[in-house]
Amino acid sequence: MRKKQNIHKAVIPAAGLGTRFLPVTKSMPKEMLPIIDKPVIHYVVEEAVKSGIDDIIIITGRGKRAIEDYFDAAPELEMRLKDQHNDTTLNRLREIADFPTIHYVRQKEPNGLGDAILRAENHIGNEPFAVLLGDDIITNSKPCTAQLMTVYSRFTSSVISIEHVPREKVCSYGIIKGNAIEPDLVRVEDIVEKPEPDKAPSDMGAVGRYIFVPEIFDCLKNTNRGVGNEIQLTDAIKLLLKDHPVYAYQFEGKRYDTGDKLGYIETIIDFALRDPHLNKAMMEYLQKRICS
Ligand code: G1P
Repeated sequence: MRKKQNIHKAVIPAAGLGTRFLPVTKSMPKEMLPIIDKPVIHYVVEEAVKSGIDDIIIITGRGKRAIEDYFDAAPELEMRLKDQHNDTTLNRLREIADFPTIHYVRQKEPNGLGDAILRAENHIGNEPFAVLLGDDIITNSKPCTAQLMTVYSRFTSSVISIEHVPREKVCSYGIIKGNAIEPDLVRVEDIVEKPEPDKAPSDMGAVGRYIFVPEIFDCLKNTNRGVGNEIQLTDAIKLLLKDHPVYAYQFEGKRYDTGDKLGYIETIIDFALRDPHLNKAMMEYLQKRICS
């Protein structure tokens, strides 16, 4: 049996082209789309840090430099805010500078999610690690990644976060097949990337959080191009299943798919509603809008 190791490294793939959000993503990474005043990827990094991750590698690509600038320190801005005695904003900036050091590696060609994760192999080495997709924000008092870590520590095996997805949307997800061993826990038997609704083995879709044993890297190397002519993470998980158990966990919390236009708008509305400075005005506006 594999030796249990603490998970302290995370990979955040953020190399996708963002075609669903063109033209804005022509000159701006989709991970930098703002949810009011913080970019989507801020929340993803924050979840990793709150889950105990202290070593983050973001997979970027051409046109993604804004992500590095965002997580960098900003001494000139800090100086200006200090002179203006604007402590609130200063503290918000320092919060970002206080995140653990983030490493970056580029995916040179857009060869898919699986290939992006493989770019992190040298950095991760021979230890289990978390993957957080840069599009998904998941809110919960216990972060989703921390929930997966709890499952990992029980089984010392890879874990995928899952949720029920509407039948007509299974073709946007990796869909799992397996047996429930507890109400919210499934031992995975198979996983299929973006199946047609009538061929889907279930309605349980993989969402953007995973824990992997390092053997996933060999599987990724042996994965042929799949859906969309890309190296798919789902196909590598299929290979992993041959020799290693994989579990799927129905996480607690709410997932926002900011990679989808409607999902993005819903995220902004929900975050505005829970912001004490915006809540009242937002509520009044929504009520007015619905009644008109
Ligand atoms: C990716 C994965 C898919 C997963 C989904 C979750 O797809 O390939 O298996 O279900 O993320 O968001 P994408 O959304 O990048 O097309």
